[in-house]
Amino acid sequence: MPDDHVTSILTENRVFNPPEGFSRNAHVKSMQDYENEYRHSIENPEGYWASKAEDLHWFRKWDSVLRNDCGFFKWFEGGKINVSYNCLDRHFNNGKKDKIALIFEPEYGIEKKYTYAQLLKEVCRLANALKKQGIRKGDVVEIYLPMIPELAISLLACARIGAVHSVVFGGFSADALRDRIQDSEAKLLITADGSFRNGRVYPLKENADVALLECPTTQKVIVVKRTEKSIPMYPPRDMWLHEMLADSSIEDYCEPEQLNSEDSLFILYTSGTTGKPKGVLHTQAGYLLYAAETFKYIFDIKDSDIYFCTADIGWITGHSYIVYGPLANGATTLMYEGSPTFPAADRFWRVIEKHKVSVFYTAPTAIRALAKEGEELPNGCNMSSLRLLGSVGEPINPEAWMWYYRVIGKEKCPIVDTWWQTETGGIMISPFPGATPLKPGSATRPFFGIDPVILKEDGKEAGINEGGYLVIRKPWPGMLRTVWKAPEKYIEKYYGQFPGLYLAGDNAKKDENGYFWIMGRTDDVIKVSGHRIGSAEVESSLVSHPAVAEAACVPYPHDIKGQAIYAFVMLKKGSQKTEQLKRELSQHVGNKVGPIAKPDKIQFVDDLPKTRSGKIMRRILKAIAENTKEYGNVSTLADPTVVEKLAAERVQ
Ligand code: WT7
Repeated sequence: MPDDHVTSILTENRVFNPPEGFSRNAHVKSMQDYENEYRHSIENPEGYWASKAEDLHWFRKWDSVLRNDCGFFKWFEGGKINVSYNCLDRHFNNGKKDKIALIFEPEYGIEKKYTYAQLLKEVCRLANALKKQGIRKGDVVEIYLPMIPELAISLLACARIGAVHSVVFGGFSADALRDRIQDSEAKLLITADGSFRNGRVYPLKENADVALLECPTTQKVIVVKRTEKSIPMYPPRDMWLHEMLADSSIEDYCEPEQLNSEDSLFILYTSGTTGKPKGVLHTQAGYLLYAAETFKYIFDIKDSDIYFCTADIGWITGHSYIVYGPLANGATTLMYEGSPTFPAADRFWRVIEKHKVSVFYTAPTAIRALAKEGEELPNGCNMSSLRLLGSVGEPINPEAWMWYYRVIGKEKCPIVDTWWQTETGGIMISPFPGATPLKPGSATRPFFGIDPVILKEDGKEAGINEGGYLVIRKPWPGMLRTVWKAPEKYIEKYYGQFPGLYLAGDNAKKDENGYFWIMGRTDDVIKVSGHRIGSAEVESSLVSHPAVAEAACVPYPHDIKGQAIYAFVMLKKGSQKTEQLKRELSQHVGNKVGPIAKPDKIQFVDDLPKTRSGKIMRRILKAIAENTKEYGNVSTLADPTVVEKLAAERVQ
């Protein structure tokens, strides 16, 4: 068989039903309930979403639920809303002001807890400080922070005044930060003196200083003190946050801006096929509604839950399921700083024990890494508070699923394997934990209002268990609205292949029970530890090194990361093929993009498999990297002999 992994997934036939007690108390108690509600949501999506939107707070109700403006979708037009009001004031006014909204578990220092009243006050104060710096509705604020409470507070402060936030993951390099700031044209940057990870300090401010040399739009920098490390400050551009907030004219309350439903809420950059990352734009009402509804049903959230998502707020998972979804539901959300394996591989388990976490959401790569450490560490912690587990970011292999289910969930916690994307704003395909029988490795069935289908190249629907393009037929409120400053790209990338239908970029199958099995990307995106890296980004950073003439990167399967990067590198004349240079190139990619983009394997080559028109044939490179020997048709290559040469020198 060409692909054993896919075969083993498809022959997976274990089924795990939700525990009875869980179903009894769940928001959706049975498949019958799910089917009924799903049918209703698909027959009349606008009616369905309008009835759900009634639960939010509106300054003014909408005039139309959905409008298609030449391929650009508008939800709840005419409505006036404020996302931070919905996440904070609404609960403050509804008897939850003393409920814990946010728990912060630091890598270094002491934990912090914020009630809804305290969080509201902190958000208002930062919002007022931003206003004082001249930030107004529609201005872009770049955020480059560690996983500290100020990060969540910054998002909400922007939302309060109608500023558009654009968070850049704190693990990204100066160059990656610069590219994103240049594209978003941010007026102000919020950063910190550094961030803790694995006992070391990562130099955020120094990176920001380098990035800002080439970012003329950014005239102000707010710096959070986190590490006590001494850093250069360049006044009047740079200001310490604690000094700004000490100003007695900063009030504790900030009037929420009344925003249009379709005003921009945030931009988040993500990788695609082309070299530069694209700015995915999400807007106010639809995004909030979708994050809130999916959070409530998929995590089956109750007032008493302590919810812990291990993602970084620098990714969409953190936006939707650490900040907006949980807070829109008045839940208690826990954010942690650091990494899963520091100071030891029981970091998550200790946090769960300490805070009596009941709902836990993490990524397959973390599960695989922690499973490798054995069962002693989790068994050494009391995790009896857990009632529900979640997974996100990449396909979860059945072995990792079983370990998660057995060792962490003690066979009493359903697992929600949630498929979605930066572009979708929220979870699209996932079990309903009180209803859906689980099959390890399948994200199961669509959320309410979501209409996925698998299409073949010719646009016809694929048969049962036949692979194809995963496409979403109906619009949904959390969908991206456009690509920042590139509307033509939005239409072309997402609605070009099958006109009018949203193309996810994933290859998937649907089985005889209507369950979806996601099998990986159809484009040149590589999922390294669940992080989305464009091969083109890594290739351009390699080529920017003086020794490199040409480079091609492909994924290969990796035990822990899921996928890792294999780089084929052609050197310029005169450069020596040394191990030292390999290390240097890897470091170079780390500096240019970020440590997560470093290739695990580099092979120096004299030639690449190209067609006569000069196009690199990646499927051949992939077969070499994976060592499958299934090269397919090589007759269209300019020089077919290159394949055997490359395979013979494959890096083990
Ligand atoms: C891509 C989107 C969604 C938040 C984190 C990632 C892959 C995501 C799953 C899953 C199989 C998954 C897909 C998707 N993916 N979740 N449960 N099973 N694959 O967001 O960085 O935008 O990446 O992640 O390939 O297209 P993202």
